[in-house]
Parts: sequence; structure tokens; C-alpha cells
Amino acid sequence: MNLIFLGPPGAGKGTQAKVLEERFGYQQLSTGDILRRHRAEKTPLGLEAQAYMDRGELVPDDLIIRMVETELGASGAEVIFDGFPRTVAQAEALDALLARQGRGAVAIAFDVDNDVLTERLTGRWTHAPSGRTYHVKHNPPRIAGIDDVTGEALMQRPDDTEETIRTRLAEYHAKTAPLVGYYRKSPVTKLVHVNALEPIDLVSAQLVNMVSGGMGDAA
Ligand code: AP5
Repeated sequence: MNLIFLGPPGAGKGTQAKVLEERFGYQQLSTGDILRRHRAEKTPLGLEAQAYMDRGELVPDDLIIRMVETELGASGAEVIFDGFPRTVAQAEALDALLARQGRGAVAIAFDVDNDVLTERLTGRWTHAPSGRTYHVKHNPPRIAGIDDVTGEALMQRPDDTEETIRTRLAEYHAKTAPLVGYYRKSPVTKLVHVNALEPIDLVSAQLVNMVSGGMGDAA
């Protein structure tokens, strides 16, 4: 079953996608990571997306939907949609895409309080090539500033400043939070919740239980 991760910036979507990818062989499709790759390669899409991302605003739907269609291609793997959809238009496009490919999905809402998010994001360090993330306090790398797996340098994302985080959270509440209601009413995609306020390994345990046990509600 494909998974749709819904949650605000810093909820732990990317962290948990990596856990499930490793444990169950999912393919993580993170629209944020794909956009950052386009930016690094200076593609037309990357150049167009850049200003929106730097301001903490959502990139326009038409660009994102085309990008996801291209990335998904004919892959037969089960996918974790991480950070997509983020608007009702994107959710409708994903419904159509999944239906065309005969795929089903479960939406997982990461329930978390706003007041932990800024601390999670300003303390985050990322291994850019893989999208692997660490946190100075909650999940430190073995050697500060160095990726455990490759030994390469970690970086801090330029949009993880307090000012940009405020815009990202406002965008989330205005445009993405309504998707919880969208999936609650969906006749085809079931909605389940995880308590994403718990420590990383306990959130992972909830998700592993859900995936192993057929997607009951863990929270
Ligand atoms: P994107 O890269 O998707 O960023 P985001 O949604 O803001 O999500 P984050 O990656 O910041 O959070 P996360 O939930 O993955 O948290 P993580 O696991 O890293 O998007 C960036 C930009 O691209 C957007 O602003 C937009 O411009 C554009 N964009 C992307 N997709 C788009 C779309 N579909 N439409 C339009 N525009 C789009 O965890 C965060 C930190 O907390 C880490 O340090 C981690 O170690 C720590 N942590 C995780 N879980 C816990 C826990 N349980 N307890 C304590 N610490 C934890």
C-alpha cells in the first residue's frame, strides 16, 4: 500500500520515511528533496522553484504535479509520498494519478504541536545527497557535522531560519492542514493518525506496527 505523509514542517515525515524505506523497501518520494536536487542542478524547474522555497512559500501546483508525474513514472515500487500533496489541487491530481495506475494509498497524519517544530527545524542537520536528517539534540550524528553512513559533511537547510519557518507554518495551516479533512471524507484513501510528539523511535514503532498490522490507527 502506498503511503501519504501529511504533517507540518518538522513533524518528522522525512525522518520516518527513511525508517520505513529501510525496513520495508518503500520508495520515498519527497517533493522537497526533488526540488532541492533540481535547484542544485540548476534545471528550469529548480530555477523557477528557488524563490518560492527561499521565502518558505509553496511552489505552484502545476509545476509540482508535473514533477511528481515524471518522478513516479512507471515505477512499480510502493511509494511514500513525503510532502506531497500539500494543497487540495495536488490531492485531486494524486487521486487521479493513483487511479490511473490502479494503486491505492493510506494517508498518515503526523499529529504534533506547533511549539516543538521550530526547535526541531533549527536543530536539524541534513546529508544533502541522501536527504538523511539528524538533530543536534534528538538524533545527533556519531561525529558532529558528519553523516554516519558516508562520512560526508552535513549541512543546515537555508529555509530552516526562524523567519522562513514562520512562513512555512503559515502556508501549512492555510493550504495543507485542510487535507486532513479531505482524506477523512475520501471514499478511496483511508486516513490514520500517528502521535508525532513522541520521541523518534516511538513514532517509528507506531508506523512499523501500522504497516505490519494492516493500517489500524496508532494514536
Ligand atoms: P520540504 O523539504 O518538504 O520541507 P517541509 O515540509 O517543510 O518538511 P521538513 O523536511 O522541514 O520536515 P519533516 O517533517 O520532513 O521533518 P524531519 O523528518 O526532517 O519542503 C521544502 C520546500 O519545498 C517547501 O517550503 C516548498 O517551498 C517546497 N515544496 C515541497 N513540496 C512541495 C509541494 N508538494 N507543493 C509545493 N511546494 C512544495 O524532522 C525535522 C527535525 O526534527 C530533524 O532534525 C529530526 O531529526 C527531528 N525530529 C524528527 N522527528 C522527531 C521527533 N519525533 N522528536 C524529536 N525530534 C524529531
